[in-house]
Amino acid sequence: MYSTEKPVVKYRKDYQPSQYLIKNTNLLFQLFDDYTLVTSELKITRNPLDNRETLLPIELDGVELELVSIHLDGQVLDDSDYEKRAHTLIINKVSETFNLTTVVKILPHKNTSLEGLYTSSGKYCTQCEAEGFRKITFYLDRPEVMSEFTVRIEGDKAKYPLLLSNGNPVDRGELTDGRHFVAWHDPFVKPSYLFALVAGDLDCLEDTFTTMSGREVKLELYVDKGKLDQCRFAMDSLIASMKWDEQEFGREYDLDLYMIVAVSDFNMGAMENKGLNIFNTKYVLANKKTATDADFEGVERVIAHEYFHNWTGNRITCRDWFQLSLKEGLTVFRDQKFSEDMQSAAVERIDQVKIIRAAQFAEDSGPMAHPIRPDSYIEMNNFYTVTVYNKGAEVIRMMHTLLGKTGFRKGMDLYFDRHDGQAVTCEDFIKAMEDANGKDWSLFRNWYRQAGTPVLKVDLEKLADGHFRLNCEQSCPATPGQEHKNPFMLPIKVGFLNNTGHPVKFAETNDAAGVDETLLVMTETKQSFDIYCESDSLVPSLLRDFSSPVKLEYSYTQEELASLFAADPNPFNRWDAGQTLMTQMLMSETSKLTEDELSVVDNAFIKILNDEELDNALKSLAVMVPELNSLIGMSDNVKLDQLFAKHKQLKVHLGEKLEHTWFSIYNTTSGDTSGDRWLRNTALRYMMIANDEQHFELAATQQTHADNMTDELAALQVIANASEGYRSEYIEQFYQKWKEEELVMDKWFTAQVVNDDEAILEHVKALLNHEKFSIENPNKVRAVVGAFVAGNTSQFHNPTGQGYEFLADIIIQLNKINPQIAAGLAKQFNQWRKFDSKRQALIQEQLVRIKSLDNLSNDVFEVVDKSLQ
Ligand code: ARG
Ligand code: ZN
Repeated sequence: MYSTEKPVVKYRKDYQPSQYLIKNTNLLFQLFDDYTLVTSELKITRNPLDNRETLLPIELDGVELELVSIHLDGQVLDDSDYEKRAHTLIINKVSETFNLTTVVKILPHKNTSLEGLYTSSGKYCTQCEAEGFRKITFYLDRPEVMSEFTVRIEGDKAKYPLLLSNGNPVDRGELTDGRHFVAWHDPFVKPSYLFALVAGDLDCLEDTFTTMSGREVKLELYVDKGKLDQCRFAMDSLIASMKWDEQEFGREYDLDLYMIVAVSDFNMGAMENKGLNIFNTKYVLANKKTATDADFEGVERVIAHEYFHNWTGNRITCRDWFQLSLKEGLTVFRDQKFSEDMQSAAVERIDQVKIIRAAQFAEDSGPMAHPIRPDSYIEMNNFYTVTVYNKGAEVIRMMHTLLGKTGFRKGMDLYFDRHDGQAVTCEDFIKAMEDANGKDWSLFRNWYRQAGTPVLKVDLEKLADGHFRLNCEQSCPATPGQEHKNPFMLPIKVGFLNNTGHPVKFAETNDAAGVDETLLVMTETKQSFDIYCESDSLVPSLLRDFSSPVKLEYSYTQEELASLFAADPNPFNRWDAGQTLMTQMLMSETSKLTEDELSVVDNAFIKILNDEELDNALKSLAVMVPELNSLIGMSDNVKLDQLFAKHKQLKVHLGEKLEHTWFSIYNTTSGDTSGDRWLRNTALRYMMIANDEQHFELAATQQTHADNMTDELAALQVIANASEGYRSEYIEQFYQKWKEEELVMDKWFTAQVVNDDEAILEHVKALLNHEKFSIENPNKVRAVVGAFVAGNTSQFHNPTGQGYEFLADIIIQLNKINPQIAAGLAKQFNQWRKFDSKRQALIQEQLVRIKSLDNLSNDVFEVVDKSLQ
């Protein structure tokens, strides 16, 4: 949040254990119409880990709190005994153990930051991670301080029949003036960031789960009135997650009650508060009519993610926020494994890698690059990043690859045994993996220390008939604050095709039996691996399944890539070969693609589309041209105008050249499975690119008659991107049908802002004044502004600079309303040094304009300041 205090940088190296701990936390919330009173009774003791000579004054965190009263061991404190600053309350003289009682007044209705206690369409809810609890009451708001919580909530019974908090309800009753109360006790100690409160009038879907030891757990899913028909899938996903964590990791749920509440105003996806998850409605509400196949996958994934946090996050939490990847990287890895088991593993893996390449490589090559365990931050909320989350998950995945499933499980078991109930570090996790498996992973730790994306350069040398050598070399570019990098430990999964494009067996020593695939482990800057194989020449299939998060460089010919694309038995690498083929062409120096290049791609596509072994989901992925963001994210210098032109040229060519194929796929593919719908809609997209007048009726019919949102939205999307003159009627039709469904309205907004048309920005601005838009609702901001900036790359980068000015205007507006969302948008400028000097100057001007604001929040300051350095 903004304040008059100067931004302070916090360093990991400065960590010191808290001098005090809070054994018990007893909270009373009195909810009134325009304010809330919070009474907090804290039993505070000295931390046994503290070895300082003297007892220092205690500094409690507290932001935007009006202090009503303060008592120490039952005695009112004199003004001179404490000092209240903007972000802290300092009590000068305390003893080894004492009780502190404070009463504060807060204003949840005015809280637009959506951090702390706030209201969302008539109900109260909380978001405390990372440092939001200090906006509720004075506290030692740091994760190593774990406390036993008792909470009593009082409010108007008619407006707030439900009063929820963590743990189990232990008491309830009536009060005067139509008010009532409910009291909660959470038997598990927890840090403040896992605290939650919800008050409102909601519908509930109930179910039960019987754990592996036979305990029955009540499951409750709370949603706004009238939405119960969109809850079944989320509940089923929860049950599937609970089962999976028992089967795969032996982890059982611990409380008797698990609650999920869906709210429409939420900064992120969801939050794993103990026993009371709070979710963005986007990751709960879904039925066939309102949600697309991709939405269903998102719900399943996020429900699982938050559930898995109960063990990796809640039972074992982080010692300090620099360790965030301890819980996030690990939990993302767990949700990825779950999704791989529930859906197609290859499709999942491709989706995961696309995120790494488009967003994480971008972050790693920009001004905010940081290791998965950052060394410093100003605003912790800025570090809930694709690096900490997704690269963090890649690092855990490498451990899994190196140890195998059984070894990884042994490490996890030891980690749970050793650290249950504690707040620990990434180092503790690595140590458990090492100790359980008798490994020394000194070198592996570089993944935690060093930022930047390693580059792995490989070539294949033929030494003699039947004897080859893979020469590998790794390097890693400098990142802010890290000039020199040490080598990483790289697991490299490889296989080979022969010169006729067939997979071949090979060996690593002369006399060994042939294998289809092996795992090479690189530990030095340069290393070679011998390969024995009876073949004249080999095409290597490298880094299968993206076995390390690196950029691979190998000078493949187009023919070699085409043969891998046609026949690599590893589905991930098969897809990747196609992407590399197109990427090489799109990023080369030429200003246009040649006829030869175009026909290499369309021939390769035909082979894929005719391959009867390949499922339709993988086909759809294979025939997608790499996204602009991913191309930009992966490179250091981008000629945007040339890239846009070639990208368009390729798409138009593929639409036109294969128009009959797309048409026949469209007409012969049933829409029964998500893979079928995906392929069919991919075909429709290409047909519309080829000739939107001719195929318009098809799209219009699909939109009108679809019985599911996947098809209905796909049709709307192509229509909204068709030539002006056709589109408005169908945009209006969709609006009239869905205007009462907020989440569908988000899709409707997004469909309208990704049109590559000069006039689009005026339309985007007009949408900001639409009655269904609200700048205070993060989903809406993401649906319009976020989607335009990240999804309409060519118009955001329009050479006039008006896209940049627009984004800066929004950031400035949101800086006051919701700094977290503002800072997230500001990160969209981070790639600016990759562009031409004209665009650089235009973006710099906007960054300078933002930085010069009075009242700039720490969140936005940190992003633009680093960007300008
Ligand atoms: N722990 C939550 C999750 O990953 C996300 C919290 C994000 N908090 C934030 N300040 N951005 O499920
Ligand atoms: Zn998480």
